[in-house]
Order: sequence, then structure tokens, then C-alpha cells
Amino acid sequence: NIFRPYRDNSSGVDINNLSSQMKLQQNVIPYLSCYFNASSIVAGKCLDSNNRIEIRSPYDPEKIIGKVAWSNEDDVKMAFKSAVNFKESWIQTPIKTKSKMASDLANLIEENKHELIALNIMEAGKTFSDSIDEIREAIDFCRFYASEVMQMEQDFPTLFNDKITYKYQGKGICVCISPWNFPIAIFIGQIVAALVTGNCVIAKPAPQTSVIAFKLGKLILEAGFPEHAFHLLLGDGVSLGNKIIEQNNIDQIVFTGSTQTALHIRDKIAQVETNMIDIIAETGGLNVMVVDSTALLEQAAIDIIHSAFYSAGQRCSALRVLYIQEDIYQKLIDLIIGATMLLKVGSPEQMNTDIGPVIDKQAQNMLLTHIERMKKLGKIIYEQEQFNNEGQFVYPTIVKLDSINELTHEIFGPVLHVISYKPNSLGHIIEDINNQGYGLTLGIQTRNHILANYLEKNIKVGNTYINRNQVGAVVESQPFGGMGKSGTGPKAGGPLYLKELSKKNINL
Ligand code: SER
Repeated sequence: NIFRPYRDNSSGVDINNLSSQMKLQQNVIPYLSCYFNASSIVAGKCLDSNNRIEIRSPYDPEKIIGKVAWSNEDDVKMAFKSAVNFKESWIQTPIKTKSKMASDLANLIEENKHELIALNIMEAGKTFSDSIDEIREAIDFCRFYASEVMQMEQDFPTLFNDKITYKYQGKGICVCISPWNFPIAIFIGQIVAALVTGNCVIAKPAPQTSVIAFKLGKLILEAGFPEHAFHLLLGDGVSLGNKIIEQNNIDQIVFTGSTQTALHIRDKIAQVETNMIDIIAETGGLNVMVVDSTALLEQAAIDIIHSAFYSAGQRCSALRVLYIQEDIYQKLIDLIIGATMLLKVGSPEQMNTDIGPVIDKQAQNMLLTHIERMKKLGKIIYEQEQFNNEGQFVYPTIVKLDSINELTHEIFGPVLHVISYKPNSLGHIIEDINNQGYGLTLGIQTRNHILANYLEKNIKVGNTYINRNQVGAVVESQPFGGMGKSGTGPKAGGPLYLKELSKKNINL
């Protein structure tokens, strides 16, 4: 079974089981030509609207996947009303019942994997293997949080005869705003965590992946989560998002997306006269890897390609700036370029595609503008030949920089920036990296333990990976989240996450 339970640490596709993968692919293919209708789901009802948007695939503008009915302000109000009326009942519902629903949802996701993989390929443009990984991660989140929540209510030992219990309970209304780059795993992770801790959820997924969200929304209800505890609102990112966060009954917001949008949400809620709203934000990064002269270069090259280019570089954890010790610079660059030339960019419907499209025209234009600017400055050292101009593809590109300060923000795509460094400049390099203000992932490739410890201690990030790639955190084993401009913590898939979504009481 390639859908591992959450305690199995393996990441990536199970390459030892090709026949089960082939069978899986055969089952996915029929869904790739289906047409899907999607809408918001409020109080268990699918809401139609006059505002219907056609969804096209990012790798083929001719491919119409389906139609989505977008929400209006009345739908938002209706969702909040239903959630507010239900929140006390949901808080009082036993933890065991909520945990069972999360486990049942894991099973339902597994049962529906073929359709979900097809949707992830068509709507998010993710490759077959990325889609399998994402389904695994979503299942892991459900099972991990189902188990974690059961540990949360504990008796407090006292010397006397008092009965003191630590009680965690839902805060009330939680708005979950999820991104298009992990439309299954992050969508499910946020919502399940909020629901099992006793919060009523208003979910607003990224508009680019509305069909996937609708499919998952139906599974959430099928798993038994009450129709008044979970509401799904589909619509344009900014205008629907603003309508939602202007409501005055919100207790908690869980957001994953760009740093810019997180700051917008923070400013916006500061203007609304309302409860104190807690925010959990998981945002971007200007992630670095350092490779010194003791590293195993072939392994480093594989990890670099994986971290920078797979998933079309559209992961917040992805490698953006690679520091290579000058002694091995040319040797490693040759290996990286050689391996990058072999990457196949194209339709994710093909199983041998390594890199699919970027999500939309806007993302493509932003990346191409950056590449054009770097070209004018004479900084491009490798650019893969472009053979398909139809879909929204950006081909793997390698840019040589002198300093990380030449980048002012995250470049969210398959563009790797490289810098050659002298060992005696590491102090300045660390300062430059920390001064960027981001702090999400760090990769270190070395066989020098002292150097690894030194970098790990001094570069301020949430997740450090040594001698491996720096993407694809595994739930529970590698709790994921950053600091500074990269987010608030607590790490998703870790022991503090559910506590952050709960009110803490000590009952005497
Ligand atoms: N958790 C993902 C990763 O580790 C990013 O969101 O790549």
C-alpha cells in the first residue's frame, strides 16, 4: 500500500512498487476527461449562483475542467450565522467523536484517491507523483490530529482530593484560508485541526483550486463533521477574502499563502471592531542551501534539483538561493546543469513529466519578468530550451548572483539562484541571510559536523535539513513552519498545533 500510515517516515513515491503505481495511474485516467461542477457549501447545502466561472487547466488552455459557482455576501453571512448558532454544541461534542470523524475522513480520502489525484493534476497542474505525496500528507494530517486530540484532556495530579483537569476547548469560529499549491494537504490539515479542537470552520480555499476544495468539502461532511460546523466558501481571492475577514464573529484565522497577503489580513482585522482574533500564518521564504567542499556532490546535485525545480518550485519550502564553496563551485554547477537538462517539463497527465506548469498567467508573467531582468543583467547561467508555449510553463532557470541582497522577495517558481562563497565569508553570509527577515527552510550539505552545527545554530529558520532535500516535510516526523516573515508557527503536523487552536482552561 503506497499510502503509508503517518508514522512511516518514507517520503516521495514508492519507487519499489512500480506495478502498484501503474495500476493507480490506470484508475486515475478515466477522471482526466470528466467535467466537474463546484459550489460553496453552507449548512450542508450546495449554493448555486449567477456568478459561474469556467475552470481551465494550467497546462492546456483548451481543457475545460468544469464550472464553479462563486459566493456572494449573503452566502458569507449565512455561513457565519449557522456557525455562530452551532459553536457551543460543537464545543460540547466529545473529543472522541471528533477524533473518529477525522479518522473516517482519512479513509474517505484514501477511497477517493483516484478522483483526487486526477483533479490535482488537472486543476493544480501538479505531477502524478506530487499528487500521490499530497494525498499521503492529507491522510497523515487526519490520522495524526485524530490521535493528538485524544491526548489533550488530562487530569492534573494533586496532593489533595481536588479534581483538576486540563481542558482544551474550541475558541469558536475559525476561518481557514488555504493556498493553491497544496490544495489537498494544506486545505485538509488546517480544517481538520480546527474541527477536532472544537472550532466551527469557515473555509476559503484559493480560487484556482475550487473544484478540489468542493470535492474535499463533500468528503468532510460525509465523514460525519456536522453541516453547521463546516462551511465552504468559493470565490475570488481578494474580494471574498475581504468579505469574510470583515465579519465580527471570528476568533481564529489560519492562513497559508504569501507574506504579503498575511500582512494584508493582519492590517484588515486591526480595522474591524471585533473580538481579539488570533492568527496562525504560514507564509513564504527565501530559502537557502549551503554546500561546502566536503559534501557528496552527486547527492547534493540530486537534492538541489529536487528542492529547487520539482513541483515547478511552487513550494514555500523550495530552495531559492544556493551557496557553493568556491573550491567545488564549477564541478557542482556542471552536475546541476547536466541534471537540469534532463528534466522533462510538460503536461502532468504524462507520468514521465518532472515539472508541470505554474498555476496561472499572473504567476508565469511574474517569473518571466524576473528572468528577463536577470537576463538583461547578464546573470543567467542556464535556461532550459522552451518547446511548449501553449500552457503556463516556466522552464528551469539558473541565475548567478553575487549576493542574496540582489533579491528583495520570494521568487515562487523553478528559478535557482547560485552564489559562490569563500569559507572565511560565512559570517557575512549568515548575516545577509538573516537580514532578509524570512526564516522557513535551510539545507546544509556537508560531512563537517562542526560546520553543520554552526550553520544550524546561526541561520534562523523553522526547518533545517542536513544532507537531504529541503522539501516535503512529513507530518509528525518533521513538523513544518517558520519564523519572521515566514510565519507565526506553531509548526503544522507537530505537537503544538492543536493547542494553538484551543482555549486553555484549568478546571477545579
Ligand atoms: N510542507 C511543505 C513542504 O515541506 C510546504 O508547504 O514542502
